[in-house]
Amino acid sequence: MEQIREKAYAKLNISLDVTERRADGYHDMCMVMQTISICDELELELTDTGRVQVKSNFSFIPGDERNLAAKAALAFLEAAGKQGQGLLVTLNKSIPVGAGMAGGSADAAAVLRALNRLYGAPLSPEELETLAARVGSDVPFCVRGGTVLATGRGEKLESLPALPPCRFVVCKPDFSISTPELFRKLDQTGLRCHPDTAGIVAALQAGELEPIARRMYNVFEEVDDRRLRTVKEIKGVLLDCGALGAIMTGTGSAVFGVFRPDADCAPALAALRRDYGFCREAVGVERLL
Ligand code: C5P
Repeated sequence: MEQIREKAYAKLNISLDVTERRADGYHDMCMVMQTISICDELELELTDTGRVQVKSNFSFIPGDERNLAAKAALAFLEAAGKQGQGLLVTLNKSIPVGAGMAGGSADAAAVLRALNRLYGAPLSPEELETLAARVGSDVPFCVRGGTVLATGRGEKLESLPALPPCRFVVCKPDFSISTPELFRKLDQTGLRCHPDTAGIVAALQAGELEPIARRMYNVFEEVDDRRLRTVKEIKGVLLDCGALGAIMTGTGSAVFGVFRPDADCAPALAALRRDYGFCREAVGVERLL
């Protein structure tokens, strides 16, 4: 049986703004998102089982439709007129779960790209992104990749000039934060500050790293939650070790710092590794589709 491989890249939020609470229970967002080199490795194999199955090296990840990778596969097979086709997806995960790095969405997006390639591109890139929006709010961005301004639920995408060369240090504390829970808390707290998204877009167009890093901001950091104290501590370490800016990504709990491309990130990594399990260096990845 034919087997193909695909990488599922994580994302970071360079900025995250929530602009409105919608009647459908979702929130309107305005976010600058960046694909990074930390990734899961996927293997896809057509089978004669008649079922979509997902296996993973993280034992607590579900193998059925609760897994976004399975949901994406079923949506693609239906759209391509291949219902009932058996498929085994093997996820070799490196992206931490519950980190705000879109690990589940990245896996789903990689499944969509891989299946479209395997079947000779029956769906255009636009059709693939539309299908992705049915799987989850962050999946269209993960299908396209690169540097993007995402609005609506997160599914309306406008590609931006690539982030100037830089390095990221990403650190996830040992707890996770649930996305619906943090949205609920944000609704209770309300918002006083918003990121200067237009300023970030202008700095991207000018190709200047420092004004981007200085403006990085995530409104979820304002929410009243004890766990965000740890987020502040990690940010402090990153800034003390030379980061040009540091914020939490998505609904956390991962935090990252942006460093100049020639910076030595070793002191930041060494300082963070004393207290936190997941500490990795990464670089930006350009548009995938
Ligand atoms: O679309 P997705 O299934 O990834 O969203 C998960 C949950 O996150 C939603 O059920 C909702 O509670 C919250 N969410 C939201 N507004 C968004 C995206 C997600 O309120 N734009």
